[in-house]
Amino acid sequence: MKKLLFIFTVVLSIFTIDVNAKEINMEKGKVLVAYFSATGTTEKLASKLANVVNGDLFEIKPAKAYTDADLNWRNEKSRSSIEMADRNSRPEISSKVENMAQYKTVFIGFPIWWAREPSIIDTFMESYDFAGKTVIPFVTSGSSDIGNTSDNLQTLASKATVLKGKRFPSSASEEDLKNWIAILE
Ligand SMILES: Cc1cc2nc3c(=O)[nH]c(=O)nc-3n(C[C@H](O)[C@H](O)[C@H](O)COP(=O)(O)O)c2cc1C
Repeated sequence: MKKLLFIFTVVLSIFTIDVNAKEINMEKGKVLVAYFSATGTTEKLASKLANVVNGDLFEIKPAKAYTDADLNWRNEKSRSSIEMADRNSRPEISSKVENMAQYKTVFIGFPIWWAREPSIIDTFMESYDFAGKTVIPFVTSGSSDIGNTSDNLQTLASKATVLKGKRFPSSASEEDLKNWIAILE
């Protein structure tokens, strides 16, 4: 009986992945995995996700890299504290997506800063035309959940369809990511 249940679960999961693969066109060049990572956690996750969804990996690189002092959230005068206290802050990005028009699905990864997306993600959202694209956030954090970030991204790219997205622990595996992709909504 256990064996039967196992086979049933496997068949069901293959079917689900297949259904979603139809929604996310995973042909090469159709999915972008863009990420910002100040200390490497989100970068590792983004690289695993790019493998899982056959996506092109793109780093959102700050024109001025964040130093440890910049990232000190205990200091209200640190660069990150100042940027995050100002909803209109738009830190400059030095990298550019070559052909954004080709991507139908854009995963956007970032660390949670002060319970939301870092301001540089706001810069990214305003730098491209997301009309008709599906945007899917994925985040890492100390403990906070993804919160309202998806609503924030939706406001910045009103013509995109922004899914709720998900927060992952730094230990998340490709298997965890595959399971998530299979039930995306
Ligand atoms: C300025 C700043 C603010 C942060 N705010 C939060 C927060 O509100 N909630 C939380 O759980 N973690 C917070 N963190 C922790 C990061 O989200 C976490 O360490 C993340 O995995 C780092 O990702 P990265 O290595 O890709 O930069 C903050 C980190 C920094 C530097």
